[in-house]
Amino acid sequence: MAKITASVYTSHVPAIGAALDLGKSHEPYWQKVFAGYEFSKQWLKDHRPDVIFLVYNDHATAFSLEIIPTFAIGTAAEFAVADEGWGPRPVPKVIGHPVLASHIAQSVIQDDFDLTIVNKMDVDHGLTVPLSLMCGPVQAWPCPVIPFAVNVVQYPVPSGRRCFQLGQAIRRAVESYDEPLTVQIWGTGGMSHQLQGPRAGLINKEWDKRFLDRLIEDPTGLAQVPHIEYVREAGSEGIELVMWLIARGAMADVAGGRPPTVAHRFYHVPASNTAVGHLILENC
Ligand code: DHB
Ligand code: FE
Repeated sequence: MAKITASVYTSHVPAIGAALDLGKSHEPYWQKVFAGYEFSKQWLKDHRPDVIFLVYNDHATAFSLEIIPTFAIGTAAEFAVADEGWGPRPVPKVIGHPVLASHIAQSVIQDDFDLTIVNKMDVDHGLTVPLSLMCGPVQAWPCPVIPFAVNVVQYPVPSGRRCFQLGQAIRRAVESYDEPLTVQIWGTGGMSHQLQGPRAGLINKEWDKRFLDRLIEDPTGLAQVPHIEYVREAGSEGIELVMWLIARGAMADVAGGRPPTVAHRFYHVPASNTAVGHLILENC
């Protein structure tokens, strides 16, 4: 049986990718951001999973306004790094895990979550920046990655409650896979930020920190927060945080197991227009 060993949560700021790719990571502004991931890079080396199930959002890159899947699972053997307007990031292509991804699609869809199956998809900064933060510069990503794209760009977006329930279904799917794989689930995007309109630049440190507290201790209560609170308190792009509830819903305690251990917690403002939050939770 496969099992979920840990969940990782991190923001995905595109300027972080640019700082890395343009050799600016030693600059004081970026050092303060990357310092929060020093522990995490070693942790990932020490806890390398067989597969990463990476929940992220596409930013009108692979999907346009023509087709907007709410939840899309990448079942391909590999995924190219997207060109977001200035050429693809110089990072490795993503190797998928079509067999596990297909099993999860089968299980989760039969568990009443209507996923879109995607056999070809370029992956944007939403997926590659979290990998860069956790792995540093590498020739190849440390393991296969199943991309799982959530629509948080075009309304209507899924609720935190639905995302939390979906995480539970993903856990059931992983645990019904007939091979002893270790799987990490990553929830990415956020924290508070707004890129547009009169409130552009909004950051809400208190709300973000409370979100991290509740994600650890009270995920069921946190899952009840309506989308309008994310938008009001964490800004229009703060809604990306509902994706963290998918990863949290897949942890053991939600299914009656023991509470996770907090391996690492980090919060920093600013990085570009965004508050950066990062958490690693291990199943006991
Ligand atoms: C920024 C943050 C995002 O989440 C994003 O998708 C694009 C830009 C920013 O902080 O600039
Ligand atoms: Fe984003």
